[in-house]
Amino acid sequence: MIGGRLQIIKECEVETVDKQELKDIIKDRYGRIARGEVAFCCPTCGPTTTDQCLAVGYSAEDLRLVPESAILGVGCGNPTALADLKAGETVLDLGAGAGIDVFLAAHKVGEQGRVIGVDMTADMVSRGRQLAEQHGYRHVAFHLGDAEHLPVEAATVDVVISNCVINLTLDKLASFKEVHRVLRPGGRILIADLVTAGELPPEVRASAAAWADCLAGAMEKEAYLETIRLAGFSEVAVVSESSYEAPGMAEGLRGKILSVKVRGIKGPEAEE
Ligand SMILES: C[S@@+](CC[C@H](N)C(=O)[O-])C[C@H]1O[C@@H](n2cnc3c(N)ncnc32)[C@H](O)[C@@H]1O
Repeated sequence: MIGGRLQIIKECEVETVDKQELKDIIKDRYGRIARGEVAFCCPTCGPTTTDQCLAVGYSAEDLRLVPESAILGVGCGNPTALADLKAGETVLDLGAGAGIDVFLAAHKVGEQGRVIGVDMTADMVSRGRQLAEQHGYRHVAFHLGDAEHLPVEAATVDVVISNCVINLTLDKLASFKEVHRVLRPGGRILIADLVTAGELPPEVRASAAAWADCLAGAMEKEAYLETIRLAGFSEVAVVSESSYEAPGMAEGLRGKILSVKVRGIKGPEAEE
């Protein structure tokens, strides 16, 4: 990215787009998914939504627990399985989509707890709100907002989870700093995301479509972990990692995309 602008391939032509244009492309992609106009986000997705969810770590029981329309098959992990959520905790799901992880977290924290889903795509937020209302999840809220400017008060959240979202953000450090800001001292993160191992082909890095597919914006693994530390987190560690392969994935990408689940802690003495 040079001076806030990116060389990007849009509609098969190399163009220079600014950050807002790229965000609009991402919102358009996920808006169409939220409205049910297209089934999946990525060529990395499996043949059915259920297959894709089982492949990234959800159990059949998890999928039975949540409203069916919250399951879009666009995640790359199951953060609630690894976040050690406890009754009464306040959880923020960053880039919540239609709320699969919001609803799973809601079951784990119970009615004494609270779960907030934030997403920058208006149709995702509407779909999540509608499902919460229809299925009686009274301790759940969905807010429209950007990872770089979270619509959440400082030091009010116990756990931030996220599933295949930070790779889509344009400023990863700003996003992790926001996550740090909203956590209480001693709070924790459990982030599922795609990162890279080795150089991606330049035509992939330069593709707006590949960015929206969760690929072009993915950071190299060590740089990603360092970004989380730079945002103020300690005890940053990869809890689990696997190669991310999918039918139809370009040959030049094989073995270079990793699905990681990362934890970290906001130190008890952390200052805002
Ligand atoms: C791959 S989908 C994952 C959705 C959800 N976490 C799931 O697993 O079903 C990525 C989501 O992140 C949202 N998103 C992308 N960039 C964002 C940003 N900068 N701030 C907030 N949400 C963002 C998109 O609108 C989309 O709903």
